[in-house]
Amino acid sequence: MTATDGPWATIGVRLRPLAIRPMTLDDVEAVAVVEQQVAPQPWSRHLFADEFTIDATARHWLVAALGGIGSGSGRVDGEEIIGFAGAMLVADEAHVMNIAVDPRHQRQGVARRLLARLLLDVGDRGAVTATLEVHPTNRAALALYRRFDFSPRGRRPGYYGDGSDALILTGPRLYRPDVRRLLALHAADSPDGDQP
Ligand SMILES: CC(C)(COP(=O)(O)OP(=O)(O)OC[C@H]1O[C@@H](n2cnc3c(N)ncnc32)[C@H](O)[C@@H]1OP(=O)(O)O)[C@@H](O)C(=O)NCCC(=O)NCCS
Repeated sequence: MTATDGPWATIGVRLRPLAIRPMTLDDVEAVAVVEQQVAPQPWSRHLFADEFTIDATARHWLVAALGGIGSGSGRVDGEEIIGFAGAMLVADEAHVMNIAVDPRHQRQGVARRLLARLLLDVGDRGAVTATLEVHPTNRAALALYRRFDFSPRGRRPGYYGDGSDALILTGPRLYRPDVRRLLALHAADSPDGDQP
């Protein structure tokens, strides 16, 4: 057993629990800080806040928070938001709108847990599948989505600010028991998502 095994993940030199929980309006400031660090055209704090006012019932946003006690749904004092993911529900489809992880905490399975939890949750809310747009050169994101069996469905011309097309990807059938089992494994707090 290594220091990263089990329900506690090693982050730097400290052991702090990582919780995946619903995003609240109070989290928006910290979420925008993460976004600023990783996105070429970052969403503003206001854009995130709008997600809680404009048709909030059709949205599903999660944060990855270090240091929180328990896995409750509210903000815990002293916790640190290190990632987030969100989707919009349209009819029986979920559209993954954004996902990001603080660069200091990347490659530790945080996005894998976030995306798995997000897909399980939107499946519970009636989504049959999920779609998303990704920049064709975003290797990290493409690898992440491939790991969840997202596959290309088409292109959205000139979608990005640099004039690039977006790749449109579609994910797996979220109601399938085998898919849900795999998502539950990825959502669990294991260091590398290795499947038995
Ligand atoms: C994409 C992103 C969210 C991944 O976050 P992360 O927490 O580092 O990802 P994880 O550690 O959970 O990685 C899960 C899997 O994704 C793939 N992956 C993630 N980062 C990768 C990288 N830099 N290179 C290659 N594969 C990568 C791997 O398959 C990885 O599994 P492995 O570590 O067991 O090999 C992160 O790089 C990020 O915030 N990027 C900027 C924002 C962004 O591009 N969002 C997507 C918009 S479409």
